[in-house]
Amino acid sequence: MHTQTILTFLLLCSLFTNPVIARPPNYDESKVAPYDVPDPLSFANGEKLTSRDQWPQRRQEVLAIFEDQMYGIIPPRPAVMRTELIESGETLNGTVIRKQIRMWFNKENKGPKIDWIFFLPKNVSGAVPAFIGLNFYGNQEILPDKEILVTDGWLRNNKKHFIADNRASEKSRALSAAPEASQSWPVKTLTERGYALVTACYGEIDPDYDDGYTNGVHVLFPPKTRPIPGNYTTSLAAWAWALIRGMDMIEKEKAINSKQVTVIGCSRLAKAALLAGAKDERFAVVIPNQTGGGGTPPAKRDFGENVSFQNKTFPHWFCGNYRKYSDNEEALTFDQHMLLAACAPRRLYVSSFPKGWFDPYGEFLSMKAAEPVWQFLGLPGLPAEKWPEENVPVSSTHLGYHRRPGEHGIAPFDWECYLNFTDRAFKPQTSNLKPQTSHL
Ligand code: GCU
Repeated sequence: MHTQTILTFLLLCSLFTNPVIARPPNYDESKVAPYDVPDPLSFANGEKLTSRDQWPQRRQEVLAIFEDQMYGIIPPRPAVMRTELIESGETLNGTVIRKQIRMWFNKENKGPKIDWIFFLPKNVSGAVPAFIGLNFYGNQEILPDKEILVTDGWLRNNKKHFIADNRASEKSRALSAAPEASQSWPVKTLTERGYALVTACYGEIDPDYDDGYTNGVHVLFPPKTRPIPGNYTTSLAAWAWALIRGMDMIEKEKAINSKQVTVIGCSRLAKAALLAGAKDERFAVVIPNQTGGGGTPPAKRDFGENVSFQNKTFPHWFCGNYRKYSDNEEALTFDQHMLLAACAPRRLYVSSFPKGWFDPYGEFLSMKAAEPVWQFLGLPGLPAEKWPEENVPVSSTHLGYHRRPGEHGIAPFDWECYLNFTDRAFKPQTSNLKPQTSHL
């Protein structure tokens, strides 16, 4: 089923189940009302930043606003966090090392756990750069490799992925390795270009439905009161938290250069990647691939998915305090370009695809509205005055953007653009940039 069809279905469901109806999405550019863009370079009290030294303080202020008003608090590292190597070996004809590491949060090996998988290029000298991201359907989908554990976490039912009763089955092995798969994790390409991949399934962290935050890692930091506080950790914050814990683990992996880690994700998991990347400065590069609303595009711009719909359809993604902005976006004193800006001075690459629902033009506008922060810090911006054509990536060393036709997902073209961007960060001497990507 196409995303648009699913969304129409969800919209219809929400119309039937919710007494208050979500505002229908607007798809007409000429009907987008003018909106104000909050200045990322002014403090909340209106005072303008006058020196670069003030950015860390403003950045913290911005992050605190997003946690308090939109995604909920991202908890600190728990008192106990243990990792256990449960399996390792070689894969892809002996060219890649596979490591499966289980992460626990108590001494008894009980409660929530996360099964991470590492794919490390084999014949390389020294520590390599890495990508970390969460996957939708389990590690077993990534490669035709019987040693990969089939996830035992909650999954969204999906016939194409052989997921029934919210559980994966053996039949789902290697599904995302197929050339036509949309959520690809191209281990061969990544490792051949000298990168490691670290991933885990998001359903093991927090099942993706509104359960009042009683399952998944929420049991580690349960709400202090009921009703739940307005800034309580949402599912998006929990997924971001897990990526940050993944970074804690990577710091102990000698084969990876922990100063060269890119956090990536697609869709809702791109929102989580963006949040984790904005929050944790250990991520050198942040790549939110096609986030959809509540990620990259401006909430104040009424095009495609809107705040009202998000709050109604995905109440566990956004905290209670965000409800007040439904049909009231003008009350927002912040917007998504500020979350992008919180990645500065690190590197950020955003990508869009053409479904109106995802507001690709809005994503570009958010990048442009965030760009002044990089420039203020003396770093290059995004070298595009107008919305770039499809399939024409634009990037400086610090900001990159492209949009492409086709289906939702991380496609080979997207990976090619991302690898060119990260090569430029981590392997400037060897980066094989295509002419159209090399600006500034
Ligand atoms: C829906 C949702 C988006 C989200 C996407 C996904 O389309 O409206 O915000 O990004 O699902 O995660 O698949």
